[in-house]
This record gives sequence, structure tokens and C-alpha cells, in this order.
Amino acid sequence: MELLPLGPGFGVEVRGIGLIDGASSDRAYRSIRAALEEHSVLLFREQAVADDVQAAFSRAFGPLELVKIGSVGAGTFYNRLHNIAADGTLVPETHQQTLTARANQLWHTDSSFKATPALASVLSARTIPDYGGETEFASTRLAWSRLPRAMQLRLRDAIVTHAYANSRDQIDPGLMTPAERAALPPVRWRMTWRNPVNNRTALYIASHAYGIEGMGESEARALLAELIADATRPEFTYRHQWRPGDVLMWDNRATMHRGHPWARDQARSMVRTTISAVDADGLAELRPGSPSATEVYREMRDAAHAIDVAEAHAMDCGDALRGRHRH
Ligand code: OGA
Ligand code: MN
Repeated sequence: MELLPLGPGFGVEVRGIGLIDGASSDRAYRSIRAALEEHSVLLFREQAVADDVQAAFSRAFGPLELVKIGSVGAGTFYNRLHNIAADGTLVPETHQQTLTARANQLWHTDSSFKATPALASVLSARTIPDYGGETEFASTRLAWSRLPRAMQLRLRDAIVTHAYANSRDQIDPGLMTPAERAALPPVRWRMTWRNPVNNRTALYIASHAYGIEGMGESEARALLAELIADATRPEFTYRHQWRPGDVLMWDNRATMHRGHPWARDQARSMVRTTISAVDADGLAELRPGSPSATEVYREMRDAAHAIDVAEAHAMDCGDALRGRHRH
């Protein structure tokens, strides 16, 4: 397996190993898994992908999500994102599938609104337009590491509310049916997701997120918007131009992504499989009030405080010394 850098500090193209290897060889799976933990976005080129190959590959990483009600492919493993009607013509601008594509153009992380969030997603290109329709990624792990430490300490324990309705309502309040709304009530997660393999922390936010506990709604929305804007500044993103045979896999714990528009008279068809997170992926700690996380964070806060005190003390001593020298 060979890894070639893709994006600014994250993302790699995987060479010499493909989806079928990942599905059928434990050794290949382990190499790919390690690359995902480390690099957050993986690109496989020239894959002869079919639904069953994609599902078998995805299943190696954990339990597969069933597509939720209201989406094309509901009740199966295959989320079908396309603008093609049953008779082969392209769907109109006002069609639910067009609006869904527009909602996917908001920065988001897949399934943060679900009772069980997603570890990773696998997206394969089946039909691509001549231009446009790129998928763009940002690392929320790097975004976290860029935040000042005072901000990190403030946000580490914050609890964020996510709802599917929040992102859909931004596009069209009629996009979700009452049945969908009832099936997808808001969920709460800690604002950071620690990767238990490498201990790296990532911001866990994006378009489904709207509330922060203990903060007014407009203040929370403003803070979330600011964090997303900083995480996704153009110099920090990787924008993938699809080629036939491309498959992308991304770590929803450590990235955000968004789609881009394409010409209305062109077909685009993608298939996504999504892998649910399990406790071993760090999910237990993401839950508000989970004792392990609270303990870890309290220890880190205390340690940071001890460093602050020591630094302040060192500075006082420095001042005192300099004071003496001046005399
Ligand atoms: C997705 C998604 C964007 C795109 O599949 O989860 O957001 O470019 N896709 O199709
Ligand atoms: Mn998505």
C-alpha cells in the first residue's frame, strides 16, 4: 500500500490496494483502517465498484447504517444521491432530490443528527457531470488544533444539539415531512470527539448543529458559524474533482464536507454507504456526562491550570529579578 498526500495536512490517495482487498483480506483492512485513523480522508481510484463490493468493504469497518426515511434508498445500505428520475430524465429544480443536493452543499458531517452517529462514509462515483459536482473536505482535527488554548478549554466540555431539521430548514422548510421530523428528534453530543487510537481531538459540529448548552440560541449559532468558517477557510480544504471509478472514504469524527453544484442539464449519480460509530471509536466519550470523558477533561483542565499558575509564578519571579537588576 502506498499513500500519496491529497489535502492540506490531511487526506491521502491510497495506491496498490482497493475496496475488494479491504473487503476480503483482514491484513488489507487493517492497513486501510490505520490510514483512515491517521489521514481522515482516503481516495481510491479506478475501482470497479458495485453496490455489494461497496457494502462488503464498508462493513469491515463496523455496522452499516440503514438509509433513513425520506431519502432515496430508505431501508437499505445504499444512500442514492442523484438527479435522475425513474424514466431517465433529470429531476426538476424544485424536486426533493435537488433540494437534498443543495442541503449537502452546506458544510456538514454525516449522521451527527442520528441517535448513533457515523464513524465513516464511503462515497462512490457512478455517473459524474463534465464539470462541477466536486466534494470538498476540511479537517476538524486540524481546526481544533488551531484554536487558542483558552478557547479549547472553554469548548472541550460544551454540549451541542444537532438536528437534521436544522440543515434542511435552511434550504426549504417544506423539505422534511412531519413523519421525518418525528423520526429524527434532536440529539446532544460533546463538541469534541477524541480519537482513541491516536488521542487526537476534533471539533464535532457543522450544519446539523444549532445549540450549545448554557448559551442563548443566537450566541450559540454565531459561535458555531465562526468555528465552521475558520475550519473551512479555503486554504484548509481539499476539493475533490471526481473521475470515473473514484471512491472516497472519510472519517466523520474528524472532518466536515460539502458538495458543490453542477450544471442542471447533466446527470450526477453517487452511492454512499455509512458506517455507524461504536464505543471503541470514541463514541462513549462523545455522550454528554460520560464519566470517563468528564474525568479526562477535568484532569486536563487541572493540568492546564497548574501550568498557568507555574507560568504566572515564573513571570512574577522574572519581574522581581529584572526589578532587582534595575536597582
Ligand atoms: C454525502 C455528501 C456530497 C456530494 O454523500 O454524504 O454529502 O458531493 N455528498 O455528493
Ligand atoms: Mn454528506
